[in-house]
Amino acid sequence: MTQALTILGLESSCDDTAVGVVRQIGDEPPEILASVVYGQAELHSAYGGIVPEIAARAHAEKLDLCVSEALRESALTLDDIDAIAVTAGPGLIGGVLSGVMCAKGISAAMGLPLIGVNHLAGHALTPRLTDMIAYPYLMLLLSGGHCQFLLVRGVDAFTRLGGTIDDAPGEAFDKSARLLGLAQPGGPAIENEARHGDPKRFRFPRPLLNRDDCNLSFSGLKTALLRQRDQIIAEKGGLTRADRADICAGFQQAIVDVLSEKTKRALRIYLQGQPAVPSFAVAGGVAANSAIRRGLETVCAENGVAFHAPPLALCTDNGAMIAYAGLEMFKAGHRDGLDLTARPRWPLDQTSPSILGSGKKGAKA
Ligand code: KG4
Ligand code: ZN
Repeated sequence: MTQALTILGLESSCDDTAVGVVRQIGDEPPEILASVVYGQAELHSAYGGIVPEIAARAHAEKLDLCVSEALRESALTLDDIDAIAVTAGPGLIGGVLSGVMCAKGISAAMGLPLIGVNHLAGHALTPRLTDMIAYPYLMLLLSGGHCQFLLVRGVDAFTRLGGTIDDAPGEAFDKSARLLGLAQPGGPAIENEARHGDPKRFRFPRPLLNRDDCNLSFSGLKTALLRQRDQIIAEKGGLTRADRADICAGFQQAIVDVLSEKTKRALRIYLQGQPAVPSFAVAGGVAANSAIRRGLETVCAENGVAFHAPPLALCTDNGAMIAYAGLEMFKAGHRDGLDLTARPRWPLDQTSPSILGSGKKGAKA
């Protein structure tokens, strides 16, 4: 009989408490039996960023509830679970610890195997959960906390081809929206404004395009936007709706151009390895941006590479991606003991040198 594996996955590394249940029977497509996400946005909104202590407390309060809800949603009990997967880093230490402690408790009480998952591996393996894409593929993580090109060669074989040297793109969208008096999250707000703006009226910089690598930079764009805003205000005493829309369109176009160009470079490196089924996947909240998506799809089409973008609910932080990464790790024989530690920093590719510090959402690895 073909073996069925059912994994419970816990995620609490940032501001979402999430638990998922994923099952795979033999080599059939994996199935998400449950995915429960409790966001904490309203707990942090008054502070203009995530407060780690508040996040950790909320995770500790919600995790048990999320586990019960995920089991109820999947019509299972802990007796039906084969292993517990948990995000063990990178992220805000208090939140990661809450998840690891909860997972250890369940593991010890039920005698279930425990698997510590790298949060970024969860994102990076999601296209296999949704589309079963074959290794090796090229992945671009684009969110409020992450930004990197990853060559995904296997369940624990990642090569980082490049990433941001300062802000993540979501941070740039959010901070820029704030500068323009737009609502948070800034990405969708800027995209909406940009729809009726002229991307050519203001010229924004295209950072790092002069460097032939896959690294990116977004903090200068935000500064350029601030300067542009202040210049218009100095000249005219304020911004009209059209000014704001044009700024948004120019800003977004700069990000599209930079991401498209750097993706071309990353694809060139990836294609040198002559993958049997060339595939590219994008994930993270910023991947919801249709101009960015169109730009990346075009680059992929020009290079004969299949383009994949998991549904948004699986692009952003969730427990199903951790359960799925745990499932692949379990199959590969990976097990952790009760000495599993929470790692605030945990680069997926241990061999590449670190390229950045810590952003508003904690260590980005
Ligand atoms: O992956 P995500 O949900 O959360 C973490 O970063 O953990 O990403 C959130 C980010 C926010 O910065 C938000 O502004 C951005 O994704 N975002 C977008 C869009 N929708 C969400 N950025 C650009 N365009 C969008 N349509
Ligand atoms: Zn994430």
